[in-house]
Amino acid sequence: MARITASVFTSHVPAIGAALDLGKTRDPYWQPVFQGYEYSKQWMKDNRPDVIFLVYNDHATAFSLEMIPTFAIGCAAEFKPADEGWGPRPVPMVIGHPELASHIAQSVIQDDFDLTIVNKMDVDHGLTVPLSLMCGQPEAWPCPVIPFAVNVVQYPVPSGQRCYNLGKAIRKAVESFDQDLNVHIWGTGGMSHQLQGPRAGLINKAFDNAFLDRLIADPAGQAAVPHIDYVREAGSEGIELVMWLIARGAMSDKPPTLKHRFYHVPASNTAVGHLILENNP
Ligand code: DHB
Ligand code: FE
Repeated sequence: MARITASVFTSHVPAIGAALDLGKTRDPYWQPVFQGYEYSKQWMKDNRPDVIFLVYNDHATAFSLEMIPTFAIGCAAEFKPADEGWGPRPVPMVIGHPELASHIAQSVIQDDFDLTIVNKMDVDHGLTVPLSLMCGQPEAWPCPVIPFAVNVVQYPVPSGQRCYNLGKAIRKAVESFDQDLNVHIWGTGGMSHQLQGPRAGLINKAFDNAFLDRLIADPAGQAAVPHIDYVREAGSEGIELVMWLIARGAMSDKPPTLKHRFYHVPASNTAVGHLILENNP
């Protein structure tokens, strides 16, 4: 049986990818950001998964206003790093896991969650930056990755409650897959950021840290928070945080073990937040 053993949560700021690709990780501005992931890179080596189920959002890269799936699961054998306007990032191809992805699609759709099945998709910074933060700059990513894209760009976006419930359905799906696989689930995006308008640059450290506290200890309570609270308190792009509830919902009902917690401001226009939780089955 496959099982989810851990969840990883991290911001996916595109400028972090650029800093890494351009060799700026030791610059005074970026050094504290990358320092916060030193533990994580070692943890990844010590706890190498067989598959990563990676929840992220596409930023009008693979999708556009022409087509807006709320939840899209990548079932392809491979996914190319996207060209977001300045050429694709120099990172490895993302190898998928079509068998597990198709099984999860079957199970979750039969559990009444409408997923869009995607058989061809380029993956943007939302997916590649977390891989870079957790794995550094390898020749190949350490394992197959199932991309799971959530619409948090164009309203209406899914509620935190729906994301949390979807996570539970994903857990059930993984646990009914008949191969022995160690699966990690990642939630990405956030934390507080607002990229445009008079409030551009908004950072709310109190909100972010309360979110981290509650995501760890009271995820069901956090799931009840309406989307408007994220937008008001954490900025318009702070809504990306609802994706973390998918990964948290996929964890066991027992309290998880907190392995690592990191929070840093600034990184581009956002606060960077990061957690590693291990499952207690
Ligand atoms: C920024 C952060 C994001 O998460 C994103 O998707 C785009 C831009 C930023 O801080 O610039
Ligand atoms: Fe984003």
